[in-house]
Amino acid sequence: METKSSMYLSLLPLWFLCFIIINLVSSSSSTRYDDHIPLRETNEEEDVHFPKNFLFGTASSAYQYEGAYLSDGKTLSNWDVFTNITGKIADGSHGKVAVDHYHRYPEDLDLMEDLGVNSYRFSLSWARILPKGRFGDMNMEGIYHYNRVIDAILKRGIEPFVTLTHYDIPQELEYRYGSWLNPQIREDFEHYAEICFRYFGNRVKFWSTFNEPNVQVILGYRKGTYPPSRCSKTVGNCTRGDSEIEPLVAAHNIIRSHLAAVSIYRTKYQEQQRGKIGIVMNAIWFEPVSDALADRLAAERAQAFYLTWFLDPVVFGRYPREMQEIFGEDLPQFTKDDLKSSKNGLDFIGINQYTSRYAKDCLHSACEPGQGGSRAEGFVNANALKDGLALGEPTGVDWFNVYPQGMEEMLMYATERYKNIPLYVTENGFGENNTGVLVNDYRRVKYMSSYLDALKRAMRKGADIRGYFTWSLLDNFEWISGYTIRFGLYHVDFNTLERTPRLSASWYKNFIFQHRAQSQNDDA
Ligand code: FCB
Repeated sequence: METKSSMYLSLLPLWFLCFIIINLVSSSSSTRYDDHIPLRETNEEEDVHFPKNFLFGTASSAYQYEGAYLSDGKTLSNWDVFTNITGKIADGSHGKVAVDHYHRYPEDLDLMEDLGVNSYRFSLSWARILPKGRFGDMNMEGIYHYNRVIDAILKRGIEPFVTLTHYDIPQELEYRYGSWLNPQIREDFEHYAEICFRYFGNRVKFWSTFNEPNVQVILGYRKGTYPPSRCSKTVGNCTRGDSEIEPLVAAHNIIRSHLAAVSIYRTKYQEQQRGKIGIVMNAIWFEPVSDALADRLAAERAQAFYLTWFLDPVVFGRYPREMQEIFGEDLPQFTKDDLKSSKNGLDFIGINQYTSRYAKDCLHSACEPGQGGSRAEGFVNANALKDGLALGEPTGVDWFNVYPQGMEEMLMYATERYKNIPLYVTENGFGENNTGVLVNDYRRVKYMSSYLDALKRAMRKGADIRGYFTWSLLDNFEWISGYTIRFGLYHVDFNTLERTPRLSASWYKNFIFQHRAQSQNDDA
């Protein structure tokens, strides 16, 4: 492995080049990529109206909502197994029942209809459809269940926006061959995706292959806090793993699986079914902690090791330059076939935007591993403090500060880098510790209102944003935090499962109503 200082020396000419480029860029008033896309002149006074077909929705995922963990032919998923291990989940809970959406979806869809949303983003449980992956039969009960759900959504005038996998996979694939670490998983994912297109694609017009593969890989294979709990012993509490290399391997297999699913959709289904396919990424905005060139480059590197890690290969057919420089030959290679399918690898990008962080350079200054001092972190401390403070307003949830400006920056970054590709904000929402706020969630209202303003500013600058989904309709199982953090527009009593609207539910309803009225006026 290259030492840090020798790598730094080998990068010197590059720093110099970057220095010149950054100075050129900052001395003009233009944006970095404005020779590629025609961004609009901004006019702060001008109000932007959401187009009539803009999707307003709420988002959920199978493991966090459904429950019914062994009903109607479903078998165990990786999350069923993981939550069963003592000490993994903050309150020792699990998703066996969750908010029982499996049985209560008609009631929940009524709530959505009442809010006036025109789209619902949810995920399918792979283990419900293929309990043993491609090593067993399809579970028709699972297919019938989702058929009923999709029909019920459409009956209410709502558009289904479907994720194929939101962190959960059949445990069988973990047992058999180590899931994402094994290239075989691509065949399983292809098989699963094709079944979904075949059975549901006549009614589903929005597909995303993965939800937040960056989070899945970093937490599952670098930090080891999500299944399959793999990491180096120096990094976390894992019995096996390699935090430097395994995330690269898992990510590579995910990207290739995405490309394979897209290729099947394009060649066999899209023309007839007329849907769109994309991927959903967790998107943190990284702000340089200082104006120094090294920190500005660190902020850029932070994106390379988080967001563009997955998006650049799918859009451009290669990993981000910063990753190539740091990992060199350890970075997996794409085959010719992968590159062929990556030409057209996305119709849209889903952006899950909640929070922002300061990024501080760790190539020039010493940082501890875990605080930026490792290759896997791209030598960036992405939790840096400025004058002792983190970026944005703290919420009480450790990973989560409120910084609406980050939404605008993030959307513009994706717009500029990916040449104005259509964007959907597939998740944004406010989480509170279980503080006893039953219905008066004014902080959530303030959060949503300020982030939606930021989204509009990006639209005003020309970003092609086509939808906004808030996370989430209901309080639900928040992964390793269990039921201790609440994100719902509706409060859920986890004993009775009763749903009670919060202030934010009426606020969102009113927001959607007003914007519908505006877009109708625009048409008149
Ligand atoms: C996102 C996840 C989603 C939910 C929210 C709060 O990163 O995609 O499942 O947990 O965070």
